[in-house]
Amino acid sequence: METTVVDVNLGEHSYPVFIGTGCLQPILPSLIPPTARRAAVITQENIGVEIATGIEQKTFYIADGEHIKTLTTIEKLCSEWAKWGLTRSDIIIAVGGGLVTDVGGFAASIYHRGLEVIHVPTTLLGMVDAATGGKTAVNLPEGKNLVGSFWQPSAVVCELETLLSLPEREWRCGYGEMAKYHFIGSNDFRQLELAEQITHCVRFKADVVSEDERETGRRAILNYGHTLAHALELEKDFVLAHGEAVAIGIRYAAEVARLLGRIDQDRVDEHESVLKHYGLSYTLPPSSDIEKLIALFSRDKKAVEKISFVLDGPKGIELVEIDDKVILKKAMEALL
Ligand SMILES: NC(=O)c1ccc[n+]([C@@H]2O[C@H](COP(=O)([O-])OP(=O)(O)OC[C@H]3O[C@@H](n4cnc5c(N)ncnc54)[C@H](O)[C@@H]3O)[C@@H](O)[C@H]2O)c1
Repeated sequence: METTVVDVNLGEHSYPVFIGTGCLQPILPSLIPPTARRAAVITQENIGVEIATGIEQKTFYIADGEHIKTLTTIEKLCSEWAKWGLTRSDIIIAVGGGLVTDVGGFAASIYHRGLEVIHVPTTLLGMVDAATGGKTAVNLPEGKNLVGSFWQPSAVVCELETLLSLPEREWRCGYGEMAKYHFIGSNDFRQLELAEQITHCVRFKADVVSEDERETGRRAILNYGHTLAHALELEKDFVLAHGEAVAIGIRYAAEVARLLGRIDQDRVDEHESVLKHYGLSYTLPPSSDIEKLIALFSRDKKAVEKISFVLDGPKGIELVEIDDKVILKKAMEALL
């Protein structure tokens, strides 16, 4: 397969996203800025993707699991970079899933007040969503992604060969985010090959981000399914992975929209058909604490005064403010 390039158009912060097989090693050295003397590679031990930047490089490992997506991890990384002598003209390469690119991107955005980062996503979720768009964050005990920054990478390289080692559960997680695109304005792309599906999602996201980098409007549609997803991840102490929680969140958003009279049962069935196509489960775990989940909604950073939900409706996807907790509860009960 030849390499496809999708541009994220953001003026002086524009960058390319490469998608292909066997593209990483030929492309990566050409993306290193001439000013960079050193490349700090951030990854996880089990990922095992070797890269060669063509300049002096050192690998910094972070541990696995959403629990380490914290300010402590950021501080530790920055300390290690400082001890190594990494300067502002050097570069970070984040090689991993959404956790690594979120952490690597955030650390890059604040170390020496910001240095360049290239993302090399190695999970499906990272390729179709997390690595592109410049949102970076870590979690607080009070909520997911509560501390972060907008920091665009200087390039993203989606090397499809890295997916060969991806465990089955991580494929499902990626499909959770992929399913989202079906409902937020994209046409049905279930029939495409994997590489084309990834390109389709990246193109869609690039278009949304180019129009609304800072999420003051249209970009909010990318959070479809995420209000419940973030609450579920916290309530279940991250036993549910992000993509799994998003799949449940998508079905929940459809139920809330139906109860509000915004969509009909056929559209709910369409949600179920897409989620099933990707092998996703969309029932609430039986032990879910509904009251706690609703309390967690209000802590989600996307909530202002009422609870903000991205919902389907007659005019398409919109941000809707909801203060009727009975409907939110009823929709959850329907998913148990
Ligand atoms: N910034 C954004 O716009 C954005 C969007 C969506 C999700 N996210 C964030 O992304 C994170 C989830 O990302 P994720 O689903 O990629 O999870 P992850 O990064 O935790 O990776 C999941 C697991 O897969 C392993 N792994 C990664 N690449 C592998 C490979 N090629 N082969 C074998 N194992 C591999 C990891 O080590 C980990 O154990 C969450 O923290 C979520 O909040 C961010």
